[in-house]
Amino acid sequence: MAGGPSGNGGGISTASTAWAIVMSAFAAFGGILFGYDTGTIGGVIAMQDWLDVFGTFDSTGQLGQSTKGMYLPTKDKSLVVSILSAGTFFGALLANPMADYVGRKRGIVASCVVFSLGVGLQLDTQWATFVVGRVIAGLGVGLVSCLVPMYQSECAPKNIRGLIVGLYQLAITIGALLAAVVLNATKAEQSHSAWRTPIAVQFAWAFILGGGMLLLPESPRYLLHKGHVDRARRAMGRLTSRPADSVEVEAECTEITLALEDEKAHGSGSYADCFKNNRSKNGLRTWTGIALQAWQQLTGINFIFYFGTSFFQQAGITSPSPFIITIIADVVNTAMTIIGVNLIDKVGRRRLLLIGATGMMVCEYIIAIVGVTAGQTASDGSVNLTAQRVLIAFVCVYIAFFATSWGPVAWVITGEIFPLNIRAKGMSLSVASNWLWNFAIGYATPYLVDSSTKGEPNGVATANLHVKVFFIWGSTCLGCLVFTYFFIPETKGLSLEQIDLLYKESSIRNSEKHRRQMIAANETYAHHEKVTASHDESSDDGKPADNVPNTNV
Ligand code: BGC
Repeated sequence: MAGGPSGNGGGISTASTAWAIVMSAFAAFGGILFGYDTGTIGGVIAMQDWLDVFGTFDSTGQLGQSTKGMYLPTKDKSLVVSILSAGTFFGALLANPMADYVGRKRGIVASCVVFSLGVGLQLDTQWATFVVGRVIAGLGVGLVSCLVPMYQSECAPKNIRGLIVGLYQLAITIGALLAAVVLNATKAEQSHSAWRTPIAVQFAWAFILGGGMLLLPESPRYLLHKGHVDRARRAMGRLTSRPADSVEVEAECTEITLALEDEKAHGSGSYADCFKNNRSKNGLRTWTGIALQAWQQLTGINFIFYFGTSFFQQAGITSPSPFIITIIADVVNTAMTIIGVNLIDKVGRRRLLLIGATGMMVCEYIIAIVGVTAGQTASDGSVNLTAQRVLIAFVCVYIAFFATSWGPVAWVITGEIFPLNIRAKGMSLSVASNWLWNFAIGYATPYLVDSSTKGEPNGVATANLHVKVFFIWGSTCLGCLVFTYFFIPETKGLSLEQIDLLYKESSIRNSEKHRRQMIAANETYAHHEKVTASHDESSDDGKPADNVPNTNV
């Protein structure tokens, strides 16, 4: 407690943790919007009825053989798939004005309204309306993908903040699974409801998230940032199950205010300020967030989720069917995320990222080596089944490493490394980086992996990498490892304000040791104030002040 009465070192501590958990965990529902929306489009655009409405008829009989001659030209396919990323990217950038001007809670509610508008437009049968609907739904997803981890980080009790924000990632994986299930259930329908139903289901997600958020308190950190002290106390009281005028709530709010005043004394909180390497190391933190989210995408995870089906098909894998492999990948992702979120506050963020990057790197190199040796189709067309099973097994192990580390931890760290004064801006830039790389990798992958059709009618030149692309993913995971070692501090068990102090006082590689010392000494901003005040007193009268705990400050 902020060096306050309960002396727990700041960060939300509660009389009853149950409510704090329920409230901050509920927002994780936003992950369903994210996972479901990104998971539906691939299935929707393959449906016969959708192609009948939006596709093109191929009179040559070469294209759309399994869809009655209807097909989606490549340019339209790229547009309708990647336009979501354009929306999400700008949505993430808009999250800053939304979070700081409208608020974290009301910002999430407003994002649900934007998202619902986009969903509604996608029920239309006009191509332009459908595409505009994708952009607007993307804006909603981009906003939510930034505001939800921000709200959760600011409201969760510090000892389980990793678990709570990790639940957001769990919801993303559940959303993707739900999308697969709903698409499978409606795909055989011969009417517009085949694609309208999976799209319209999203109204329910938006309604549950938006409606539920209306009942929750606003983030007390946001309210203090805006100078609404009484409202902040009431919100803090609700989150901690304590009276708004209790000494504990008072101490929590004092700690946040002291940290904020310190930040304001050293920076204006502008975008330029986010990149200054001042005493708060804002520049380091902002680049860390941006790079962390980029590296999360560069693990290659979406190569499996976006292109897995066609990749396994091209690799000649027939059993289990590529569709089943994709479902297996989704299930492994969800199941292992459940384990992962439970490890974050026990094993620690930095250590999990280091372990995860190493595990993923080894798996990707094994897949690449097996793929270019035993996994190759022989000249007589025969395939080595054992080698193929090894490939699939290591893809699953790779997903398991991602799900227990870089999946959830990237969001947890993004939510906690920024000081309050620049949190909305720093997070919004970091999350925008996630969506930018998501788009870039999705766009570039076919050009890297597929067979070149240069010279053929409408052909395109590609790098023809096929399974060799896993050498690239193995090397990017090595990049993730090096990046973590040099740039990610250990923040387990610290309040957001203590993390702020950690950045000011410690180097990254010494952060584990410093973190332990901070916890042992109960070091907080309030504690610093006390030490400074007592120091002034002792220099006034020449005697040391009483009651000043011994710290490492
Ligand atoms: C990533 C997504 C990815 C998902 C897979 C998220 O953390 O940001 O790009 O598709 O994890 O579960």
